[in-house]
Amino acid sequence: MSETTATSTDGATAEGAAAPHETTGATIELENLTKRYAGSGDPAVDSVNMEIKAGEIVILVGPSGCGKSTTLKMINRLIEPTSGRIRIGGEDVTDMDPVKLRRKIGYAIQSSGLFPHMTVAQNIALVPKMIGWGKAKTKSRVEEMLDLVGLDPGEFHGRYPRQLSGGQQQRVGVARALAADPPVLLMDEPFGAVDPITRDHLQDELIRLQHELHKTIVFVTHDFDEAIKLGDRIAVLRERSHIAQFDTPEAILTNPADDFVSGFVGAGAALKRLNLTRVRDVEIADFATVTVDDPLQDIFDKLRSSGTNELLLLDKRRRPYKWLRRGDLMRAEGSLARAGTLVHDTVTRDATLRDALEAVLTDNAGRVAVTGRRGEFTGVVDMQTLLNSVHEMLEADRLDAVEHQHELQEQRALLTHHEQEGNGGAAKA
Ligand SMILES: Nc1ncnc2c1ncn2[C@@H]1O[C@H](COP(=O)(O)OP(=O)(O)O)[C@@H](O)[C@H]1O
Ligand SMILES: [Mg+2]
Repeated sequence: MSETTATSTDGATAEGAAAPHETTGATIELENLTKRYAGSGDPAVDSVNMEIKAGEIVILVGPSGCGKSTTLKMINRLIEPTSGRIRIGGEDVTDMDPVKLRRKIGYAIQSSGLFPHMTVAQNIALVPKMIGWGKAKTKSRVEEMLDLVGLDPGEFHGRYPRQLSGGQQQRVGVARALAADPPVLLMDEPFGAVDPITRDHLQDELIRLQHELHKTIVFVTHDFDEAIKLGDRIAVLRERSHIAQFDTPEAILTNPADDFVSGFVGAGAALKRLNLTRVRDVEIADFATVTVDDPLQDIFDKLRSSGTNELLLLDKRRRPYKWLRRGDLMRAEGSLARAGTLVHDTVTRDATLRDALEAVLTDNAGRVAVTGRRGEFTGVVDMQTLLNSVHEMLEADRLDAVEHQHELQEQRALLTHHEQEGNGGAAKA
């Protein structure tokens, strides 16, 4: 996590930032932030206190109507707070000119919010133009942003929003939010309107982007699985944005603060935990392999000598092709084309353990091949490995919980101690 806090983010600094993505995140502090809409009794957001570190992704998650959007929009003052303070990078921005404020805060929303009558390039150039960037600089920034979000600049910059798929529109929305290189990015259910597969893709992309950019991101969703996947920390909100729990995904999954949080975590917390670990974090085992170019005799020999009674046959580019058992070749009368079982599923090192488990469960022999960047074979993960790492994980969580309990006890003991001292003093006086 970045320790750098960009405090000076006025126009001059942004203009001077020639190097791309120079601006990393800034801290955000909300102090007793409250919104009471005109004509309504209870406040929509009631005295929220929250400290968000520079460079972290914080997810606000909670049921519909609990005040997530209101809280988010008060940060960039699309909604004026009724009371309370907002500090960004240590600077109190509660009374700053909202237009000026929004220059240092990117904002991306559901269904992208792109202007339909403007091209993709014009949409992305909006804020850079507004803050007076020159033509050349803006143009190259637009191309760079398109590239960053995985859209070919040549192909996309002249298109209109209606000529894009939902997923592509969201990408442009993110590119636009990042165009002026703001330290803070606010996202309100940005992937809420796309299909689940595209959504998964966009989430992966955001994680990749954040590895490069280290912005401070506040991300609103009502989907707890999305919160676990993306959040460094998650704030689970109940009505009026009261914080039920604000902690890491691990801590919330293993130690939900109360029934409301448990309800939100939902069933299968142990399974969701698998989303937090990647295949690269577990032991990837070797496996005896042969390739389709090897002479048949060598394959026979290797099958006979191999301790496992099974080989993985790789294609010409060393990608997993078939599982070959002893006897398979005999039955197929020595024809590689007919022998063995096709590899129907593989995972990459970046896949979650949940994906790996899914693949292992549907494999007859309970294992899955792991592949590298170009699909080449790098090893296997089997059921036993997954079980071991899940057990290790749960054990580590248990130890954390015990430690946490001890800390709480100490704190309580300390408090009681202070109270007694206080009472003692009062009695003497
Ligand atoms: N402009 C508004 N005027 C009056 N009430 C509003 C307005 N916007 C939102 N609300 C109310 O404030 C509460 C919180 O809304 P919102 O922040 O949109 O919640 P969420 O994003 O969590 O679904 C809701 O009860 C909603 O009806
Ligand atoms: Mg909302």
